[in-house]
Amino acid sequence: MKASVIALATGLCLAWPAFAGESVYLDKSKPLEERVEDALSRMTTAEKLDIIHAQSKFSSRGVPRLGIPDVWTTDGPHGIRPEVKWDEWDQAGWTNDSCVAFPALTALAATWNPEMSALYGKSIGEEAAYRNKDILLGPGVNIYRTPVNGRNFEYMGEDPYLAGRMVVPYIKGVQGNGVAVCLKHFALNNNEVNRHNTNVILDDRTLYEIYLPAFKAGVQEGGAWTIMGAYNLYKDQHLCHNQYILNDILKGEWGFDGAVVSDWGGCHDTDQAIHNGLDMEFGSWTDGLKAGRKNAYDAYYLAGPYLDKIKKGEVGTQELDDKARRVLRTIFRTSLSADRHRGSMCSEAHYDAARRIGDEGIVLLKNDGKVLPMNFDKPGKKVLVVGENAVKMMTVGGGSSSLKVQRELSPIDGLRNALKGKADVEWVRGYVGDVTGEYNGVTTGQNLNDSRSKEELIAEAVAKAKDADYVIFVGGLNKSAHQDCEDSDRAGLELPYAQDEVIAALAKANPNFIVVNISGNAVAMPWVKEVPAIVQGWFLGSEAGNSIADILTGAVNPSGKLPMTFPTSLDNVGAHALNAYPGVKRADSDIYDLEYKEGLLVGYRWHDAKKAKPLFAFGHGLSYTDFTYGKATIDKKEMSADGTVTVTVPVTNSGDRAGAEVVQLYVSDPKCSVMRPVKELKGFKKVFLKPGETANVSFTIGKDALSFFDDKAHAWTAEPGEFTASVGSASDNIKSTVKFTLK
Ligand code: BGC
Repeated sequence: MKASVIALATGLCLAWPAFAGESVYLDKSKPLEERVEDALSRMTTAEKLDIIHAQSKFSSRGVPRLGIPDVWTTDGPHGIRPEVKWDEWDQAGWTNDSCVAFPALTALAATWNPEMSALYGKSIGEEAAYRNKDILLGPGVNIYRTPVNGRNFEYMGEDPYLAGRMVVPYIKGVQGNGVAVCLKHFALNNNEVNRHNTNVILDDRTLYEIYLPAFKAGVQEGGAWTIMGAYNLYKDQHLCHNQYILNDILKGEWGFDGAVVSDWGGCHDTDQAIHNGLDMEFGSWTDGLKAGRKNAYDAYYLAGPYLDKIKKGEVGTQELDDKARRVLRTIFRTSLSADRHRGSMCSEAHYDAARRIGDEGIVLLKNDGKVLPMNFDKPGKKVLVVGENAVKMMTVGGGSSSLKVQRELSPIDGLRNALKGKADVEWVRGYVGDVTGEYNGVTTGQNLNDSRSKEELIAEAVAKAKDADYVIFVGGLNKSAHQDCEDSDRAGLELPYAQDEVIAALAKANPNFIVVNISGNAVAMPWVKEVPAIVQGWFLGSEAGNSIADILTGAVNPSGKLPMTFPTSLDNVGAHALNAYPGVKRADSDIYDLEYKEGLLVGYRWHDAKKAKPLFAFGHGLSYTDFTYGKATIDKKEMSADGTVTVTVPVTNSGDRAGAEVVQLYVSDPKCSVMRPVKELKGFKKVFLKPGETANVSFTIGKDALSFFDDKAHAWTAEPGEFTASVGSASDNIKSTVKFTLK
C-alpha cells in the first residue's frame, strides 16, 4: 500500500489507473468534504468496512483499488514506538526505528509553558511523520485523581484548566506536520487496576467540570483529528462505544468530526460498536494471524459480524457511511494532505527540544540553606551519587509508551559530563530496585544485578557520603509494574525498595544532601524535614542526564511547578479518604462500580476544602532567584454578564539571577447556590525576568472562568454576586487578592 502512495507522491502516477487524474478525492487542493464525499461514493460496502478496523497490530487497511493508503498508528505519547511485528506487541527488530524520548507528559505539564508544549508537539510530530505514521496515539489528558494511578506519568496533572491549556499547543504542533493526534483515553480512565471492567459513577457536574474540559479543549481548540475511547465503562457501557460520552457529548455537543479510535482491545460488541460512536476498531485480538483463523481481523466486531448484520437487513449503512467518512477525513488530513511533512528523526533539534522541556519541567521542591545550585568554586570537590535511578535507563518500560531510543543520557553521565574538571563524581547504588530492563523485546542491555544485602548497600553509601562535598540521591519509581506503569497501579504512596531508609541514613551522614525523585507521581517523603534540597525529576527521556545536571549545577534556573498536589498521605486524597478506589465488585458479574464520591474535590480542591496541608502544593516550585509580588489591581469592580475584567499584578525578580516565575490566577465564588471549590485555577503565565526586572502580568477574566455546570439545566452558568481573584506563586501561596462583582 505504502508503495502506491509513494508512487502518487513522486509523480509516478502515469503508470497508475486512470482515476488518478480525474478524481476529486485525490486532488489535495480540493476542500476536504468534497474529497470525502467523492471517495465515499466510489467505495463498496466491503471497502468501507475494511477501513474501519485493524489489519495488523497498529494499522488499518486503505482502499488499494482507489489509491487510498492504509492508516498507520503509533504510540505515543512521549516518543515514537519501535516498529512491532505485524500481529504482535513485540518489536520487529528493525535497526532504523530508534527515536528521541521526550520527557513524559507530567514533566511537560510541569513547565506550565504552552510554548514548550508547542515545541514538544512539533518535534514529536516530525518524528512521527518521518516514520510514516498517520496517527500518534497521544497525548493523554486523564485527570490525576489519585497518586496511585500507574499511568499518571502519561497525563498532564490534576487540574482541568492547566491540562487544557497545555494540550492545545501539543495537538497543533503534531498536526501541523500532517500527523493526527489521538487524544486519549476518553474518558474517566483514572486508574489502571480493573481498567477493562470498572464502571465509573459520577455526577454530571463533576464530569463536565473536572474530567471533560481538557478533552473538550483538545477537540475544540486543538482541533484533534482523532480521539481514543477508554477501556472502562460509564453508565454500564464501555467507553469505546458509549452513547453518552461519544455520541451525545463528543459528536453532539462538541461537534467532533474526526474518528473515534478504540483503545486496543476496548471494543466488545458489534451492535454497540455500530451505534455508539466508535469509528475504528483496533487490537481486539492481539495475535490476529496466529489465532488459528485465516485472518482474525475479518472477525473483528466492525468487520464480518457487521457485514452479516447489513446483509440480513438488521442495520442499514448510514452508520457505516458516517464511520467511513470520519476515517477518510483522517486520511485526507494526514497521508493524503497537501500539508503532510516529511518530518525528521533523531535530529539534534529534537534532542535540544527534549532537554529544554526537561529543564523547564524539573521542579525544585525544597532548598533550605541554599544547598542548590551546587558550588564548584574550589576545585577537587567530591560528589557522591547514590541510587539506582541515577544509572537505570528509564525509557524502556511503563507499558505502551515504552521506547527504543537512539540514546539516553543517565543522570550519572549527565553529572559526570557537566562536572568534568570541576569535581570527582562517584556512584554507589544504595538499594536494589528492579534490575530487569526489557519491554516487548527492547532491552536496555544493562546489568544492574547486585547480590549485597540492604544493610551492606546502606553502609557503603553512608561511609562514602561522610567523605563527600555533596551527596545526591537519585531514586523514586522506575516504570516497572506497580512503579508507574500501565496496567497496574501503585500499592501506596511510599517509595519502594526501602529507599526511605537509605535517604534517612544519608541525611544524617552529610548536610549537603540533595534528593532527586524520578517519578510521574507524588510520593511520600517521611524524611522531608531532614533533607535540605529536594528536586522532582519526572521521567525525562533521552536528555534526562543533561536536564538534571543543568538544574543541579545551576546552568539552568529551575522554573517548573507541580501539576499535581503531593499529599502527605493517601488520607488527604478524596478518592482514598472516602474509600472510593478501586471500586466495589458486583455480586453477579466481574464489573466493579467505582463512584467518584469526592466529586469536584480532586487534588488541591480537596486540600482547600479540608484545610489539609499538602506535602507540596499544586503549583509549587522554587527558583534560585526570588520573585516579589506587588499588589494585584483590577480594571473595574463590576463585570457585566457578557464582559470581562482584567487583573494585573507586578512581579519583580528581586534576586541576583535571571529566572522564570509561573504567576497563577485562582478564582473563588464564596457565595453560590451550589457548592464551589474554595478556589480554581483560571489563568497562568510564565514570565522570564532578569535580576531587578519587573513584569506586569495581566489576566482577563470572562464569564466562563466564573461558571459552574448546572446539571439540572445542563448548561454552564455563573451566578451574579461577588467573586475573588487570587494571584499567587502556588495554590498554597497566594500573594494578593481582589474582589469584583458579576452583575
Ligand atoms: C493503551 C493505549 C495504547 C494502545 C496501543 C493500550 O493498551 O491503553 O494507550 O495507545 O494500547 O499500544
